[in-house]
Amino acid sequence: MKTIAVSGKGGTGKTTLAALIIHWIKENRTQSILAVDADSNVNLNDLLGVPIKDTVGAIREEMRKSVNNIPGGMTKQQFLEYKIQSSLVESPDFDLIAMGRPEGPGCYCYANNLLREILQALGENYEFVVIDNEAGMEHLSRRTTQTIDYLLIVSDPSPRGVHAAGRISNILEELDTRVKKKYLILNRVQNQPSEAVSCAIEEAGLTLLEAIPEDPALLTMDRNGNPVSSASEEFPAYRAVSHFMDKLKL
Ligand SMILES: Nc1ncnc2c1ncn2[C@@H]1O[C@H](COP(=O)(O)OP(=O)(O)O)[C@@H](O)[C@H]1O
Ligand SMILES: [Mg+2]
Repeated sequence: MKTIAVSGKGGTGKTTLAALIIHWIKENRTQSILAVDADSNVNLNDLLGVPIKDTVGAIREEMRKSVNNIPGGMTKQQFLEYKIQSSLVESPDFDLIAMGRPEGPGCYCYANNLLREILQALGENYEFVVIDNEAGMEHLSRRTTQTIDYLLIVSDPSPRGVHAAGRISNILEELDTRVKKKYLILNRVQNQPSEAVSCAIEEAGLTLLEAIPEDPALLTMDRNGNPVSSASEEFPAYRAVSHFMDKLKL
């Protein structure tokens, strides 16, 4: 199993890139893919062109409310497993699971721990796991136990954006060390990244994997509500995704 997690500030293009990565894997590899929407504002499924059934958060909530209401003969674990399995969106090209709302202030640790175990076991059935993250990084470690092979931090091409990416990278390092490789991706680049941006990247100690161009075709796709499966090598942004995915030699 190879896990790729996409993170970064809101609006930098995380969901778009996660969807394009999934599209690339589907087009270039014959391996199985699990797409994980870890943003509570669930929308990866829209870009992938599939409907969502249920979220892990909703399942946890239901479990919390009906602890004594588990169908006869089932343990809590079996019940959760069953619910997660039936919330999985299965498509010919990938499966998708949506995390939904994060847990509230009252810790429901028992279910959370069970969920983590179940999700971990689920991920192991796939050759690729691609995670679209929420802007904050903390719950990435709370909600998953998987090792992340590639963490891609997305930023706009501005020094401020790159500094924010550097902070995300540092927070993650403090929180946890399960990330094997970490790269910066600049998105919506017009012309070349500026000198100031190159300096900021160096200051932040980040490694630039790719500069993805501003792509009007993506905007049109978004505006028309079309899924990323309509993206082709004619899309400059998709060509850039192909370029870095080749470089990663997955
Ligand atoms: N390279 C790009 N060129 C043009 N538009 C882009 C590009 N990347 C993302 N966008 C657009 O930016 C907006 C935000 O992208 P999104 O993937 O939803 O960001 P995030 O998930 O980080 O909040 C969307 O309208 C998307 O179509
Ligand atoms: Mg998003």
